[in-house]
Amino acid sequence: MRDASPQSAAETVHLKDYAPFGYLIDKVELVFRLDPEATRVTSRIAFRPDPAAKSRDFFLHGEKLKLIGARIDGQKAAPEMVKGGLRCTVPDAPFLWEAEVEIAPAQNTALDGLYMSNGMYCTQCEAEGFRKITYYPDRPDVMAPFSVRIEGTQPVLLSNGNPGRKGEGFAEWHDPWKKPAYLFALVAGDLVCHSDSFTTRSGRRVALGIWVRAGDLEKCGFAMDALKRAMAWDERVYGREYDLDVFNIVAVDDFNMGAMENKGLNIFNSSAVLASPETATDANYERIESIIAHEYFHNWTGNRITCRDWFQLCLKEGLTVFRDQQFSADERSAPVQRINDVLALRGRQFREDNGPLAHPVRPESFVEINNFYTATVYEKGAELIGMLRRLVGEDGYARALDLYFRRHDGQACTIEDWLKVFEDACDRDLGQFKLWYAQAGTPRLGVEEAWDGSTFTLTLTQKTPPTPGQAQKAPLVIPVATGLLAPDGSELVPTRILEMTEARQSFRFADLPVRPVASVLRGFSAPVILERRADPRQLRLLLAHDTDPFNRWEAGRLLARNSLLAMLRDGADPDAGYFAALNDLAGELELDPAFRALCLALPGQDDIAQALHDGGTVPDPVAIYRARRSFAEAMARALQPRLAALYEYSRPEGPYSPDAGAAGRRALAGAALGLLTLVDGGGRARRQYAAADNMTEQLGALSALVSIGEAEEELAQFYAQWKDDRLVLDKWFGLQVGLAGPETAVATARTLSEHPDFSWKTPNRFRAVIGGFAANPAGFHDPSGAGYGLVADWLIRLDPVNPQTTARMSTAFETWRRYDADRRAQMREALERMLATKGLSRDTTEMITRMLG
Ligand code: ARG
Ligand code: ZN
Repeated sequence: MRDASPQSAAETVHLKDYAPFGYLIDKVELVFRLDPEATRVTSRIAFRPDPAAKSRDFFLHGEKLKLIGARIDGQKAAPEMVKGGLRCTVPDAPFLWEAEVEIAPAQNTALDGLYMSNGMYCTQCEAEGFRKITYYPDRPDVMAPFSVRIEGTQPVLLSNGNPGRKGEGFAEWHDPWKKPAYLFALVAGDLVCHSDSFTTRSGRRVALGIWVRAGDLEKCGFAMDALKRAMAWDERVYGREYDLDVFNIVAVDDFNMGAMENKGLNIFNSSAVLASPETATDANYERIESIIAHEYFHNWTGNRITCRDWFQLCLKEGLTVFRDQQFSADERSAPVQRINDVLALRGRQFREDNGPLAHPVRPESFVEINNFYTATVYEKGAELIGMLRRLVGEDGYARALDLYFRRHDGQACTIEDWLKVFEDACDRDLGQFKLWYAQAGTPRLGVEEAWDGSTFTLTLTQKTPPTPGQAQKAPLVIPVATGLLAPDGSELVPTRILEMTEARQSFRFADLPVRPVASVLRGFSAPVILERRADPRQLRLLLAHDTDPFNRWEAGRLLARNSLLAMLRDGADPDAGYFAALNDLAGELELDPAFRALCLALPGQDDIAQALHDGGTVPDPVAIYRARRSFAEAMARALQPRLAALYEYSRPEGPYSPDAGAAGRRALAGAALGLLTLVDGGGRARRQYAAADNMTEQLGALSALVSIGEAEEELAQFYAQWKDDRLVLDKWFGLQVGLAGPETAVATARTLSEHPDFSWKTPNRFRAVIGGFAANPAGFHDPSGAGYGLVADWLIRLDPVNPQTTARMSTAFETWRRYDADRRAQMREALERMLATKGLSRDTTEMITRMLG
């Protein structure tokens, strides 16, 4: 374990080496005297030997700290300074550790620990940032109640828990719930508060506050509303009540991730809080709602019950993502939510799981834990919860969760603890299911059909390709939700769960009047790639009639994808049969507009590249761009009257409202506009742009115009209108680099990265410009290699400033082995150039090493 022998710079930590800390903490008292260059932090920590632990190694983590002095029971201590912290001889009885350190938050550009954003102090301690604040056993299995005193001139001084004494230049906070240090938070600044309250079902009145900069006060209403809905939902659905007198959220502009669930004091990227109709799109509103809920839900799944060690990260993240997805499904449309979740899973997690960065949902080793806040841990982790729920049923799931909260409240737990509550509550052996946590890679599910005149037999096969470090894969338990349709489209056999446990397994449906059409993997019941030779007639039947909305959408997606693959592989024409079927579906007025909007969307460029690669063809990103564009144009022409009507009649009337119904109608009109603009010269988009009174329609129109390269005037107007709104300006940057075609993308990215408003040290802006460009395959994969070079140059520049964000964005290169020899060589050269950079961070070094691996 790194704790025991912190020697070399890039040491690997292994799950198998876990050992508990030797001491328990009864109380932590912290005092902060704030100063940008020299903040003093004093700690008083009551330790006592843990009778259950074997080790008596008193090692405290500490990084970038200036130790002013330390005492044990009032006597000056002489700790030995070692790499990553200090060691000290301590009594074999309870003792009081006191230390004073000095830190410089203004110098902290990594945004990890205590740092400054727009003159405001704030913290990010997950995963291992607390050790940059003071010496401490900075590991999630050490839990303690914290009392905090902040001394500073800022009008607002916040920390975790309930407020205590407060006066001129100071404030005190007390958090009665024991917690690991990664949940510590402190905020000090000139902030204003959007306040409200929530009364829990047992009658506790909770004061709610969203703290923002003065100009942002009008943009907090939606986040507050989402918070109250999330609080009520968690009571209703999981029986979980809030447990403090206050719940505060703070918005900061400089933040590495979306948000953080610090106990009673969530800290958010301002992009995940602030919204107004003029400045935020429907997608922004949706994201805010889901992140607010996510962080709130962590109060029970993460905070009250936390992780024993960071290998168990999915214990809180997978479960909490699953819960926020359930919440959004309940608050909005369940089928639309499911489709969007699967799109995100395929786009990010499948890409990861099928490349050099593949790792199990519960990894077994890491160099830098921040590199494992991944789509696999989060999104695949959530899929595992969904599969468990499908396997044990809704009631079993509810019983297991009740037991989890009863049994483990106040503890730091493992995946073994989690699975045990399901085994106990549902009387079921989950030994094989546990493999899902240990085995990386996306299983391929094969389907064979047989019909003997009355019995229909589905033979399913499973195979998981090798991943780094895991050559051999064992069969998994896969719940395959399946239903059968009659050839007239009526449902013959309703959904049942085929529980697959072997590499090859047959399932029989007897006594059928006709040969059915199988609807397999309904609701996307398992995170697998379905390999099924799809007959277009069957797919069209499913698209028209499947009772499972996910598979209805999926059938259309497969038709589109297959047609695109045929265009690319064999120069085929776009599939007119698909357009006809889609035309019918798009006109079904009783179908949810949001669902129809999803059906009108095309597979993304990277999805197509992934599918080509999976089928043994080397993808050419420029060819994919062109094929996708001509497919979209053909679709627009084939559906033109329908699209024109949808555009005319779908848009909701009256003032903007972000609710799911209105957003769905705007999404449908927007999808129609995007397609129509490809063939109508841009007239509609130009008119919509000029008339728009909300960001969804303004940005939708602008995107449509940028896509046809006719947005010069509108782009200038947009900039003039929004240059002082940082979140809107991110959109202006992102849209241009993200939508530029192969001829202009690199030049656009270059120009915009020289723009005076490209404040690259702000992660949101860096992600918008460099991340936005890297996510534009037609630009990033420019045959000249200039796209790779541009991204690599910027990553090299950002790395010493902000290693976390650099490492995360280096995944732009994770697909490098997919491509042709030239591109492969260029991408490899870019990776090697980054790796050769002197002083490259541990974060980025680990990522690139794994990618090249
Ligand atoms: N726990 C946070 C969330 O998912 C993520 C924070 C991770 N931060 C980091 N620097 N790794 O809600
Ligand atoms: Zn989370």
